[in-house]
Amino acid sequence: MSVSAPRIYDIVILGASGFTGKHVLKQLLKFFNNPSSPLNSIAIAGRNPSKLTQTLHWATRPDPPSTTASIPIIAADTADPHSLRSLCLQTRLLLNCVGPFRRHGEPVVSACVETGCDYLDITGEPEFMERVEERYHEKGVKMGSLVVCACGFDSVPAELGFLFNSRQWVGNEVPNRVEGFLSVESEKRVVGNFGTFESAVIAVSDVKKLREIRRTRPVRSRPVIPGPPPKGEIIEHQKKIGLWGVTLPSADATLVGRTLSILSENPHGLPGLNDSADAVEKRKAFWSSVKPAHFGVKISSKSLITIFGYITLGLIIGLLGSTSFGRKLLLKYPSIFSLGGFRKTGPSEEEVKSASFKMWFVGHGYSNESLAAEVNAKPDTEIVTRVMGPEMGYVTTPIIMVQCALVLLSQRENLPKGGVYTPGIVFGATDLQHRLQQNGMSFDVISKSSLSS
Ligand SMILES: NC(=O)c1ccc[n+]([C@@H]2O[C@H](COP(=O)([O-])OP(=O)(O)OC[C@H]3O[C@@H](n4cnc5c(N)ncnc54)[C@H](OP(=O)(O)O)[C@@H]3O)[C@@H](O)[C@H]2O)c1
Repeated sequence: MSVSAPRIYDIVILGASGFTGKHVLKQLLKFFNNPSSPLNSIAIAGRNPSKLTQTLHWATRPDPPSTTASIPIIAADTADPHSLRSLCLQTRLLLNCVGPFRRHGEPVVSACVETGCDYLDITGEPEFMERVEERYHEKGVKMGSLVVCACGFDSVPAELGFLFNSRQWVGNEVPNRVEGFLSVESEKRVVGNFGTFESAVIAVSDVKKLREIRRTRPVRSRPVIPGPPPKGEIIEHQKKIGLWGVTLPSADATLVGRTLSILSENPHGLPGLNDSADAVEKRKAFWSSVKPAHFGVKISSKSLITIFGYITLGLIIGLLGSTSFGRKLLLKYPSIFSLGGFRKTGPSEEEVKSASFKMWFVGHGYSNESLAAEVNAKPDTEIVTRVMGPEMGYVTTPIIMVQCALVLLSQRENLPKGGVYTPGIVFGATDLQHRLQQNGMSFDVISKSSLSS
């Protein structure tokens, strides 16, 4: 089969048998063969066909077996480049749920880019994302393969949430800093699956490599942000929302920064493959209403004791994750070393159902640009917005990945021809936010107020 041969499937999910992959499949099936959906053919892929068959039964129940019969299973192993190439030649879009991405992701991206197939994943691993951009961007542009990492809880709520807050600063108002405060809520314990824990542990060991990528790549353009850079406080109390927060070393801030950097070079957003005039106008209007600001995320809670729990967990993973013996210990006893936060068997259905998240965006800035230009100007305006949604890993992440996929399939002509980009710059000006709101997430303006000096 050649690169230009017609593709059999709209979407293939690779790693559909995984804890997250099976939920992505279940979510995707809601839009399968539905008259208003662009999704007419799906297949699932992975290294273990019998596990994939069980997954298909799980995801399609209680539907009749005919539904299952129309979804083929394709054998593909990330250690076998031929199987990946053959897989990618059959589909327009590949959804990659195989992690840790540092270990398995690169051959998958490579096969997509070589065969001109589009690629979305749910990684939260910064080193992987930046390596992929460095190595595959140009080839992706040439081959017409659009590669977008982090289309899950990492980092779409942060990216779209930041853009939402930034667009509330109207007229002469300008933001200086937006801080995200993530709070996780549940009547039961909040538990993550081992796959996510393993990926986080591996990300710690990659810090040196990440620094090296950043040190050696060409300097990126920086957005112009009015006012002095904010002081970085590691622990902060936000009275208005009643939360304590401690800096979360997630990929969110880096991705928002990358989106703003691309925007500073393309003030009207990235041109689409075959844009309609209407799409160009809409994109221009959207991006000209986005105002850059410094951005960071804090994991937060009403209770300072919980904050100290998060700090302890961060120290355990940070210290043990930096040596190979420590990593072995962490991965052998995930439940003990994550203080019960991750389990080899993953969360139960009840635990998933009872969890939810809120991400508050507290923006500080100026009521007019001339005030921002004054020496040592203090922000005089605050805008608080919020993104909320169900459980992060296995409900929100599948919803986001599936909606990104549907936008990509239905609006491909208006998206960049190819290359490696952030979710924010690719999907920011599309109807992704609206779609997420229709599928269980919310974006709200909470308050806009003057700050007394
Ligand atoms: N962005 C977010 O917020 C978010 C949320 C959830 C998960 N994630 C990420 O998603 C990834 C998966 O997490 P998970 O909890 O679902 O992990 P998991 O349950 O361990 O699933 C891993 C999947 O990868 C497959 N796989 C492993 N090695 C493979 C190989 N050589 N070839 C082909 N397939 C292979 C597994 O197949 P078998 O079934 O055959 O073992 C399984 O389907 C992690 O990196 C995690 O961090 C991100």
